[in-house]
Amino acid sequence: MVVSEQIEDLQIALNSSLSAGKRIGFVPTMGALHAGHVSLLALARRHCDIVVVSIFVNPTQFNQTSDLTHYPRTLEKDLEMLKANHCDVVFVPSVPEIYPDGLIRGHWDFGLLSSVLEGHFRPGHFDGVLTVVKRLFEIVQPKVAFFGEKDFQQ
Ligand code: PAF
Repeated sequence: MVVSEQIEDLQIALNSSLSAGKRIGFVPTMGALHAGHVSLLALARRHCDIVVVSIFVNPTQFNQTSDLTHYPRTLEKDLEMLKANHCDVVFVPSVPEIYPDGLIRGHWDFGLLSSVLEGHFRPGHFDGVLTVVKRLFEIVQPKVAFFGEKDFQQ
């Protein structure tokens, strides 16, 4: 299992797979992995040739600084879990790696989605999620991405 902290290293690790036309499956996470993530990894394994998992606690999707500060960070345990479940590549970027120009959040019109349920209580939350997912997709270039059902509104 390759662990990359830098975009450049990750892309070196993935380049041969991309040019060989392999199907890259991607599971974006914020770490603190559990059985739900493992099931996404298993699904990605079944449908793709290479499985990439990212672990990044994304500052732009938090409304309260204290939630961001207290978000569980269990990297060593997460890496053990990923290794035991046959993950190929883990991307663990720093904040500046993902946000080189500062914590800028994009804005999209999600219609009703951003004002009901979680959207109602967390203004800007979905903009932050899409900002990071878009950036991660551009970096990893997956063929398929896997999200948990708990993130249905996302
Ligand atoms: O649902 C999550 O874990 C996060 O919102 C995601 C999709 C990894 C983006 O930070």
